[in-house]
Amino acid sequence: KIKIAVIGGGSSYTPEIIEGFIKRYDELPVEELYLVDIEEGKEKLDIVGKLAKRMVKKAGVNINIKLTLDRKEAIKDADFVTTQFRVGLLDARIRDEKIPLKYNCIGQETTGAGGLAKALRTIPVILDICKDIEELSPNAWLINFTNPSGIITEAVHKYTKVKCIGLCNVPILMHMLSAEVLNVDKDDIRMDLIGLNHLVWGRDVIYKGESKIDEVIKHLIVGKGYTAKNIPDINWGKELLESLNMLPCPYHRYYYLTDIMLKEELEMAKREGTRGEIVKKIEKELFELYKNPNLEEKPKQLEDRGGQYYSDAACELISAIYNDKGTIHYVNVQNNGTINCIPNDSVIERTCYVDKEGAHPLNAKPLPSKIKGLLQVINEYEALAVEAGVHGDYGAALQALIIHPLVESSIAKNLLDDIIKENIDYLPQF
Ligand code: NAD
Ligand code: G6P
Ligand code: MN
Ligand code: MN
Repeated sequence: KIKIAVIGGGSSYTPEIIEGFIKRYDELPVEELYLVDIEEGKEKLDIVGKLAKRMVKKAGVNINIKLTLDRKEAIKDADFVTTQFRVGLLDARIRDEKIPLKYNCIGQETTGAGGLAKALRTIPVILDICKDIEELSPNAWLINFTNPSGIITEAVHKYTKVKCIGLCNVPILMHMLSAEVLNVDKDDIRMDLIGLNHLVWGRDVIYKGESKIDEVIKHLIVGKGYTAKNIPDINWGKELLESLNMLPCPYHRYYYLTDIMLKEELEMAKREGTRGEIVKKIEKELFELYKNPNLEEKPKQLEDRGGQYYSDAACELISAIYNDKGTIHYVNVQNNGTINCIPNDSVIERTCYVDKEGAHPLNAKPLPSKIKGLLQVINEYEALAVEAGVHGDYGAALQALIIHPLVESSIAKNLLDDIIKENIDYLPQF
């Protein structure tokens, strides 16, 4: 008898997670699925919740879907809690994108100053959710997608007793791309993936025991750049890819091609709005579709969102834990010595073996210089972001921005003051 609570159930991604549970019903018989939201999300929850109910009815599975604004009721005795909430909704995201741009810094919701702002808003809420889990379902697994996923997962590990695994769809996109360019079945490859969330490298792609990274890189050089839906497809450059000889993640463009990306963001903001503004439109269209009482499945248009596949990955991960499968997943876990040049309690994104005890990162060779320095800096930025988010530590927040390579240090103070001022309603810790 499995009970699942989805926090942020009014998300437009919910039909994907429902589809994921329907597909796996035989191996993962979910009996109760709670979709939880807050007052502001009530209308979305109602629309997507009704679609979810139509989906399970059509599929003929016995998943009892419950819609609620009562988080405690949903969390009580849950086996798995998944988090896909957005503190401050899309308007806060749009501010995260626009404030840094004012200072000529990258304006992105997870990477750079925007990511810090999102972390500061989200950490108090996730700690609150964890208190409920500690009290009402201490054995539950928390599967976190809420961004910045790595930082949020790290805050949970450092400051609560909750068992937590962080998730992102970028590694899956990298896996799919690799299978596609190699023209092999996606189940026949495995990636040696290592780094931090949204700063992860595919160090190798293994097909039938053989390294195929050279071939993948060659295709990237001659072919398209590959990206996620939310990141402009700017060409990486031949020399960069050849000398890296690893598969960068789409978010690496912000670090490797900063000026070009900034220019692109500024032009895009003028032309059609920031990504958050575009998503607002996509979301409106999606909810119009969801309202149709004849719709009984996940619509194709959901693929216009950057997070495609991530709910499916969550269901697969939950099934691997529940069924003690011992399968491979790319997830965010405590480092515990895997990467020897950062602390044990940092959270990393890594190829992991998953069974009923959770996700176990595979051993890794030491990192080469070309990726080590950047990873160390961003890791320490993340540690500072956690301290700032948990304790409302202004100095930690300021130093987080100062050491961040995407923030010009001399403007860090003014930028931070703007972030705090604009988000003050969501920053009880400050
Ligand atoms: P969204 O704006 O649709 O928000 C989802 C729901 O969260 C909304 O219905 C909202 O009302 C609700 N919400 C806000 N605050 C809440 C709270 N305190 N408790 C419960 N519910 C609350 O967001 P979305 O676009 O579906 O994304 C949701 C989150 O997942 C974001 O943080 C986003 O960055 C993240 N995300 C992560 C990945 C990944 O790869 N890890 C992929 C996609 C989305
Ligand atoms: C994916 C990232 C997610 C992010 C999403 C944004 O690439 O892995 O972490 O939330 O894109 O997509 P959106 O459609 O909201 O811009
Ligand atoms: Mn992600
Ligand atoms: Mn870290």
